[in-house]
Amino acid sequence: MFYKRMPIEIESPEEFGYDQVAYNLSESSMSDLKIGDIQLSLNDLELSYIAHRGKAAFRNLIAAEFGIPHPDNVLITNGAAGALFIVNTAVLSANDHLIVVRPNYATNIEVPRAIGCAISFVDLCFEDEWRVGAEKIEAALQPNTKLISITTPHNPTGMLMTKDEIEQIIKIAERYNILLLVDETYRDTCFKTPYPLAAIKSKQVISVSSLSKAYGLPGLRIGWLITQNEIMEQLLAAKEMIYIANSALDEEVAYQFYLKKETLIPIIQDNALKNFEVLKAWLAKETRLEMIMPEGGVVCFPRFKNNVPVDTSKFYHTLIHKYKTMVGAGHWFEMPDSYMRIGFGFPTSPDFQKGLEYISKAIDESLT
Ligand SMILES: Cc1ncc(COP(=O)(O)O)c(C=O)c1O
Repeated sequence: MFYKRMPIEIESPEEFGYDQVAYNLSESSMSDLKIGDIQLSLNDLELSYIAHRGKAAFRNLIAAEFGIPHPDNVLITNGAAGALFIVNTAVLSANDHLIVVRPNYATNIEVPRAIGCAISFVDLCFEDEWRVGAEKIEAALQPNTKLISITTPHNPTGMLMTKDEIEQIIKIAERYNILLLVDETYRDTCFKTPYPLAAIKSKQVISVSSLSKAYGLPGLRIGWLITQNEIMEQLLAAKEMIYIANSALDEEVAYQFYLKKETLIPIIQDNALKNFEVLKAWLAKETRLEMIMPEGGVVCFPRFKNNVPVDTSKFYHTLIHKYKTMVGAGHWFEMPDSYMRIGFGFPTSPDFQKGLEYISKAIDESLT
């Protein structure tokens, strides 16, 4: 495998320095929770190796919530990123072919690249309102296609596939006996995903999600993958080879959070819902940008209108260095920098408002 650092990680706010970013509109998650928000009871926790699949009670909770037939269909992982790495490396080798939607969360593209397999991209575009189109996926199939990889709700656009769209792709996976990876990391954010988890629908599907985005717990590094496919045994083997089991502490915190999440959700979501209104009001005035409204997640992906003569390098430089405001530049997603990802779940409403004003000022100062 050839590992190469990804721009989204090199330029991330945690690597740039959180203290250098006053208005953080670059995150794709809700505001971070604090340990005190969860009211934990941890004194009796033994710091032993824990069950390799993950704590049974935790997997039972997840299985019950999503209507999964058996808790052994759930594997707790080191974040969704860990799940994606496990799936890609267990399923793909250098001789295989994969179809992946682009733009996408960088890991969904870079892990297959690191493996060295052949990749066909299904490129989504603004003009099609970021819709995936099952026919494009079918057209990209090759005799050695092993995996189709999609993300819904989608990062960075907030596009949410319809039930029909998902079902069409599942049918393709079934017809050609190909595995379908559905990254559903954003499914439990404030816009509810109005259909069941994809892995319920078919044995060909592996669904991935985590506590990071919807619940503001990215620092826990707890996620999961769910599948009814026999490949689960290999996915477990991959996890065991990489890190045996999750951290006992992280997983216990995640479990205790999950037990009381229903009471915390309204508090967690309140800020993002308010910010979404602020975003819409700002966009109505900021006519130099255009955007397809997000339907899922807490991110959106506006772009400069064609006739706006902006120097994008100057824009991003001014935004971060003069106004201490960070957004996700298009190149984080292999897109032109005329696109930017704005996250509305993370900052407080006053900070979000201010950050948006600073985007407008940075545009003013970067016109050519
Ligand atoms: C679509 C998608 N999948 C997975 C991840 C990784 O999330 P986690 O923190 O659970 O590893 C991200 C993070 O940005 C993401 O956007």
